[in-house]
Amino acid sequence: MNTNKAVGKPIDRVDGRLKVTGAARYSAEIPLENITHAVIISSTIARGRIKNIDTSTAEKLPGVISIITYKNAPKLKPVPTFSANGPAAENRLPLQNAEIHHSGQHIGVVIADTLEHAKHAATLVRVEYEAQRPLTEMARERNKAVVPKGKISEKPPDVVRGNPNQGLAQAQVRVEQTYRTPEEHHNPMETHATTAVWQGNRLTVYDATQYNFGTRQALATTFAIPEDNVRVVCQFIGGAFGCKGSVWPHVTIAAIAAQKVGRPVKLVLTRQQMFTTVGHRAETEQKVALGATRDGRLTAIQHTGTSHTSTFDEFVEPFTVITHMLYATPNMQASQRLVKLNKGTPTFMRAPGETPGTFALESAMDEMAYALKLDPIELRLRNYAETDPDHNRPWSSKSLKECYRVAAEKIGWSRRNPQPRSMRDGRYLIGMGMATATYPVYLFGATAKVRILQDGSVVVQSGSQEMGTGTATAMAQVAADVLGVPFERVRFELGDTALPKAPVSGGSATMGSVGTAVHGAVKVAQAKLLELARADSKSPLYNVPETDIAFEDGQIFVKSKANKSETYADILKRQNLPHIEESFDAKFDSENKPHSSHSFGAQFAEVRVDPDTGEVRVTRFIGAYGVGKVINAKTARSQIIGGVTMGIGMALHEETITDARTGRIINANLGEYHVPVNADIPAIEPYFVDEIDPHINGIGAKGIGEIGITGVAAAVANAVYHATGKRIRDLPITPDKLL
Ligand code: MOS
Repeated sequence: MNTNKAVGKPIDRVDGRLKVTGAARYSAEIPLENITHAVIISSTIARGRIKNIDTSTAEKLPGVISIITYKNAPKLKPVPTFSANGPAAENRLPLQNAEIHHSGQHIGVVIADTLEHAKHAATLVRVEYEAQRPLTEMARERNKAVVPKGKISEKPPDVVRGNPNQGLAQAQVRVEQTYRTPEEHHNPMETHATTAVWQGNRLTVYDATQYNFGTRQALATTFAIPEDNVRVVCQFIGGAFGCKGSVWPHVTIAAIAAQKVGRPVKLVLTRQQMFTTVGHRAETEQKVALGATRDGRLTAIQHTGTSHTSTFDEFVEPFTVITHMLYATPNMQASQRLVKLNKGTPTFMRAPGETPGTFALESAMDEMAYALKLDPIELRLRNYAETDPDHNRPWSSKSLKECYRVAAEKIGWSRRNPQPRSMRDGRYLIGMGMATATYPVYLFGATAKVRILQDGSVVVQSGSQEMGTGTATAMAQVAADVLGVPFERVRFELGDTALPKAPVSGGSATMGSVGTAVHGAVKVAQAKLLELARADSKSPLYNVPETDIAFEDGQIFVKSKANKSETYADILKRQNLPHIEESFDAKFDSENKPHSSHSFGAQFAEVRVDPDTGEVRVTRFIGAYGVGKVINAKTARSQIIGGVTMGIGMALHEETITDARTGRIINANLGEYHVPVNADIPAIEPYFVDEIDPHINGIGAKGIGEIGITGVAAAVANAVYHATGKRIRDLPITPDKLL
């Protein structure tokens, strides 16, 4: 037996050394000869039009090579957005007209020999506007809410199951409340950056992107050139969380600029520009009505509300999607509306929909538990969905009961006195709260190629992205185990459209999708080698039946004769082949699935509240998760820690604030937009329950990037209620709301 399996081990990430030594190259760090620097000019008004833009003074500055505005930009071809299966983040093309839709909109770009010259010149461009009063407050514009035209995660905007009104009317206990989550920003450490270079009609772009092939498709479409003429490279991403999942206008601007000046152009967004031009999580206002019998059976769930979008795009934060499937109630109504505001287009941000949605629904469930005087875990167990109530089909796997049990035990839930404001530590109020976490299993088509070399080493390729999740490490683990070779002999190459086609690193889908392609490619290559050996009279495997074959330790064994074997290298040498190369297309049928597939988890928070200042500290955070097979125990744990950290930020700190008079974001910086720092984050303890899912994909992994944030804000808010007796339904839970 091979005792040396890689899958499941907490293997250090293969790029760890490159990252900590600074050797890892990010998209703003590509050393190209003759490079120029682009600085974007941003609109200072939020609504109206440009009356005049005067670049004459700026153009005369030393070092300035070109200034591009709507007056001299090339006309571009539109690219479909996500709702039309396209890669663009917005349906609006940059620098095409004088219209202004939001503050910070790109209105021009200065290209100069140095960053300093470009920055200085950008300040000297004079812009005259015709400004109108911007609409930036969702609450004020609510009466103008519209029905979304497109679907909300494969669903119409209004979904009804059973008879929710009757279910509510017949309920013995009702909870009906409104919950609000603010606009939030991703704030990855690495700001978006694009380095673009043209050679004739061939474009190479080094871009901070979660989707190399999407960027390629968008640029080929925009410039009307074949996709083969565009190469996109992204070796490393310094965080993304969704804001780099589709193609934003600055990528196009960098390519326009490089074409105009005939030299490589580097364009890096500032932190301020990160707040206005690459998406955000939309504000939500959600009404949840729950009806239940006195013994805690839900008779109905109603979940309705609004989120905002831009004036020119439709992006729906799908907060009701969880309500369709999380609890087994016969009567359910979900409905979403959109309010158009003078803001940039919102986008996917770690578990879009599930994150604000679980805040509302799981807070309401906690309120219902108190109304019923029932333990919140018990309420959830009484409404446990043994099958998917939405599609009426079995789950491919579900370990949520085990997750509740494990997490409750680890945090010591049995020691909790359910009475609010009953637990103290000195003068501090102590509270414990819980919530359910969930995220669907998404799978996107992916291709991988494998090369097994004569020296026994293995190279696996797929043009996926390394966004810090450990993709390169985990993929090598999958390949190593199929072949039975040591992990160290496998190298996974990614981050380039010159490699086999890979999908967006989004929807927590990379491990399952690209992993299945890797698994498939390695299997094909292995079968090919075996075939060569079995047909070769000089091989000890000659004519051995396949049922008598085992793959271990980089060798192919005859099971009935344990000393008869040969290595992949032996086979290749005898055949005089330098290597063998095979590829595999992983395809997934999302339409006709016999099962529904979700990850589930239980999130438990313990908080300490200062009754005099209203300060909330999360003192412990424990979660248990059923995510299928865990490929790398270390990077999986890191993903959950990251998700929970972001969830604590959402619960306690994060809120983007817009000045309604000017439509400008007033905290577009890391000093005033508070992301959690180390001092805010306790020891986070993730536990993975053993879960085998034979139905989902080739490797049994459900994906792990997003589930960790879902349920966190509700768990913290529920803990704050338990500590203080104050129910905060409006995030973030800042001290003023508790005093
Ligand atoms: Mo994620 S929000 O699917 O990049």
